[in-house]
Amino acid sequence: MRRYFVISLALIMVFCAASCTKEEPKAEEAKKVRIGVLGKSVHPYWDVVRLGMEDAARKLNVDAEFYVPPTEDIPKQIEILETWIAQGFDGISFAPSDPNSVIPVIKKATDAGIYCISQDTDAPDSARLCYIGTSNYTAGKIAGKKMAEILNGKGEVAICTGSITAMNSLERIRGFKDAVVDYPDIKIVEPVLVDNENTAKAVELAGTALLNNPDLDAFFGVYAFNGPSAAKAVRAAGKAGKVHIVAFDTTDEHLFMIDDGLIDAAIGQRQYFMGYLSVVALRDMVQAGKEATMMLMPKTEDGDVIIDTGVDVVTKDNLADYVKMLDKWGVKHDFKP
Ligand code: BGC
Repeated sequence: MRRYFVISLALIMVFCAASCTKEEPKAEEAKKVRIGVLGKSVHPYWDVVRLGMEDAARKLNVDAEFYVPPTEDIPKQIEILETWIAQGFDGISFAPSDPNSVIPVIKKATDAGIYCISQDTDAPDSARLCYIGTSNYTAGKIAGKKMAEILNGKGEVAICTGSITAMNSLERIRGFKDAVVDYPDIKIVEPVLVDNENTAKAVELAGTALLNNPDLDAFFGVYAFNGPSAAKAVRAAGKAGKVHIVAFDTTDEHLFMIDDGLIDAAIGQRQYFMGYLSVVALRDMVQAGKEATMMLMPKTEDGDVIIDTGVDVVTKDNLADYVKMLDKWGVKHDFKP
């Protein structure tokens, strides 16, 4: 259902964008809308956000630029935002590694007349106009319930993440813990393992957790590279099939590992739409106006504007169906069911 909601919303927005262009000056007189989409780290997860951005930019004739730092890097993100402000971009969609440190630069962009929205991970206290992405608290809860089901309500779980400042990570962990609190025999091993989106470090931390906690039953991988990194450590420790993994995201690596039984379940985000809808929303704000565009978007009870792109729980049982959905979006994958 949600999938159809998101897709129809996209269609409505595209329709609005298309209809608004009727009143515009002729193509040769019109200035091309220029937007930037900023992600968090180099990873196949972000390639899909970029794909969504590029598809929408092509269809709507928007000049769109994409940037991700090599790993989580707050100063680099701020530097890129400053560059896009200096270059006079019309709109910016950003995924902040730290929601608080971007507040001043997002204010600066807004004061300069640049429309700013967040995607993937929110910065609700900034001047961003809306958030497009996963409802991370709910998704974390879904992961927690799945974990409890896999462990039959009993076991030791370690949590691994790439950030303890980004809101998506914190919300997923909060949702996960709130879900497993209903199962008194599930114990979370503290502290949370943090690797700043450095894959080698993630594998090393997971390996150390296995050594220090010989009775460990499972890992919860909060970010895209965490599940596969934990799976590599589990395999190296000879504990494949004994130590379970609930991961976020569905890159090729995840799909192969689900098929191999190394990852039990993955919470797939529909990040294609984070990129796609960022372009549609910003383009409409520039051409149809901020108010008119925001009127079309879903609101929370307190009036905040949030487009929930939805999640999919992927296991070995529905892997083939999930891959068909990726095919529909044009997301390439080497994994064949
Ligand atoms: C998160 C991103 C993160 C990516 C790569 C995803 O689950 O939503 O914020 O950058 O994983 O680790």
